[in-house]
Amino acid sequence: MPDYSRRIDCAIDDSATIVEKIKQQRSDDAALSSTLPPEAYNSDAFFSHEMEKIYRGDWVFAGHISQIPNVGDYFTLDIVNEPLVVTRGPDGVSVMSAVCLHRWAPIVTGSGNAKALVCPFHNWTYDLGGNLIGTPYMNQAAEFDRKQCKLPRIRHEIFHGLIFITFSDQVESIAQRLKPLNAMFDKYQVAELDTAYTLDYDCPFNWKMAVETFMECYHHSAVHRTTLEDSFPGRLSYIGEDGPGWTLCHQPLRKNGELSEVLTEGLIPLSGFSEQDMRQIDLMLVYPSCLIGLNPDRLSISQLLPIDKHMTVWHRLVLVSKDSSAQPGFADTAAAMKASSLSIIDEDLAINAAQQRGSLSRLAAPGRLGHLETTVWHLANYIRTRI
Ligand code: FES
Ligand SMILES: [Fe+2]
Repeated sequence: MPDYSRRIDCAIDDSATIVEKIKQQRSDDAALSSTLPPEAYNSDAFFSHEMEKIYRGDWVFAGHISQIPNVGDYFTLDIVNEPLVVTRGPDGVSVMSAVCLHRWAPIVTGSGNAKALVCPFHNWTYDLGGNLIGTPYMNQAAEFDRKQCKLPRIRHEIFHGLIFITFSDQVESIAQRLKPLNAMFDKYQVAELDTAYTLDYDCPFNWKMAVETFMECYHHSAVHRTTLEDSFPGRLSYIGEDGPGWTLCHQPLRKNGELSEVLTEGLIPLSGFSEQDMRQIDLMLVYPSCLIGLNPDRLSISQLLPIDKHMTVWHRLVLVSKDSSAQPGFADTAAAMKASSLSIIDEDLAINAAQQRGSLSRLAAPGRLGHLETTVWHLANYIRTRI
């Protein structure tokens, strides 16, 4: 398919004008709400503004503690052009810039276990806390004391096993902001879960389109007509409580539906869930773009990582109970789960790519929102407060 998204420049590419338009929209009544203006999805200038105010100014999900259970474990990810490494050292978890202090090569990529992190360019070597411990053939460099050198640390907090990072030293503690979710996260035993698999894929559209689509079930009857709609009809979904840091959409199982329609993967449900509890899946957005699917037998936690205004990496992590991951043959179960998630993902990718193309029209304008998509308005309200 031709890449229409890059052919035409946005009619308005002036960040201040777009910010003003967004601030003038209704933020007081869901029944009067509309989408953000289409320029907010197509402007390079506004994209840069968002990256500064939102992605560098707020908390971003990086991973789960079960990805680094042992000393020496590490994983990496890139957030707004910052290669980061998350390690478990003898003193606990560190989040650091992965950019070498020498000539900027990322010292490590992917994930694994290592005693030390060795830069692939000239073998400068760092311990798991980011201290520079090896610099071959640098003995003639004057006034260079490697013992004074350390990879920059990134502020992080671990909330129920979820590792969040921020580049801001001003933003309030995320644990404080998400405090009202403690009971829910305890119920889902989020800190105790195991990683079943991770999945990263490219989304050829603006990051906000991905968030909005994940957070509403209005599109089930069209986009997921033959996949999700039968068991989880969009019309039954409802948007419940939200807070300063999150919003929630509930997806009940169809009336007279069977539990087998929820427990589709052969996993052991989380302990303490009643049959009634298991008849619903919840969708949560932790602003700006951490998306959590809460199922009675698994959690999917995604972080959207924008590359540019029209390209986003979807970084997904799926967590299950330790009982499930200890079952014989679990590797096959995890592989099957991963494969089966792809059909739903493809349906969303296709419609969001089409939506992105439509949004480039100079005839496109903010569209009215219905009660099944109040979460789309919640995201817009969050953005209004941050820009
Ligand atoms: S850039 Fe890392 S050792 Fe040279
Ligand atoms: Fe969808």
